[in-house]
Amino acid sequence: MSVVCLGRNVLAVRNCGIVVMVRHAQTAAAPAPQPRIKKFQVYRWDPDTAGDKPRMQTYDIDLNTCGPMVLDALIKIKNEIDPTLTFRRSCREGICGSCAMNINGGNTLACLNKIDTNISKATKIYPLPHMYVVKDLVPDMSNFYAQYKSIEPYLKKKDNNQEGKEQYFQSVEDRQKLDGLYECILCACCSTSCPSYWWNGDKYLGPAVLMQAYRWMIDSRDEFTEERLSKLQDPFSLYRCHTIMNCTKTCPKGLNPGKAIAEIKKMMATYKEKKAAAS
Ligand code: SF4
Ligand code: SF4
Ligand code: FES
Repeated sequence: MSVVCLGRNVLAVRNCGIVVMVRHAQTAAAPAPQPRIKKFQVYRWDPDTAGDKPRMQTYDIDLNTCGPMVLDALIKIKNEIDPTLTFRRSCREGICGSCAMNINGGNTLACLNKIDTNISKATKIYPLPHMYVVKDLVPDMSNFYAQYKSIEPYLKKKDNNQEGKEQYFQSVEDRQKLDGLYECILCACCSTSCPSYWWNGDKYLGPAVLMQAYRWMIDSRDEFTEERLSKLQDPFSLYRCHTIMNCTKTCPKGLNPGKAIAEIKKMMATYKEKKAAAS
């Protein structure tokens, strides 16, 4: 038997006329890193378990074996520790809006929120505040979606005869007016951080829905701006906004619903003047 070195990490072994190539290990195995155990305290409540009361449950996760985002930790808990933990998620990249929750006191998307790597501090996770809870981290979004439906979030024309026949063109400038509005993913982080929405969520539309109302009001192709304004003319739908701006501060997409609401209020003043002059 003879052994020939063919270069870095490769040996040829000749034995009984047969040549066998052998790739040997490049380096000795690195020592396993010290575990970095982080505590996650998660709100739990199961309405299907008789007598169950809301409580916080603590899970230990080794950050060395977990992805960087809070959603990664939740998925790891569900897959490896506790399959009963319930939360919504889909895209894991800040597009679907379903993983909105309250993390360490702020409403945000779990998939865009980096785990605080300070292992001496637990990460606290609650469902979106002031919403009914379906189970664990899943809030009941029925009221939010009903409010969204109420603003008719789609293009409306006075004459529907042209519908589907040709494109409704829009200038580049008019299209740009929708920037900062159309990107909303309806995660409800803003609405559920708004004190006015907490107290009057049944009658006040809240920042997310109002921003979408504004998005359709200023769309150059839409012909129902006045009707859309008229629908908000009551003490609650719009005017419960007191410009506290929690909404804008919390939006995980960096949007500014507080500004959109201020713009509706300005449009409303002009609309009211026009209406008064016409009567
Ligand atoms: S600005 Fe208006 S909508 Fe935004 S948090 Fe304040 S009260 Fe709520
Ligand atoms: S404005 Fe921001 S926080 Fe509010 S629903 Fe849209 S994306 Fe979410
Ligand atoms: S999973 Fe879709 S936004 Fe987080």
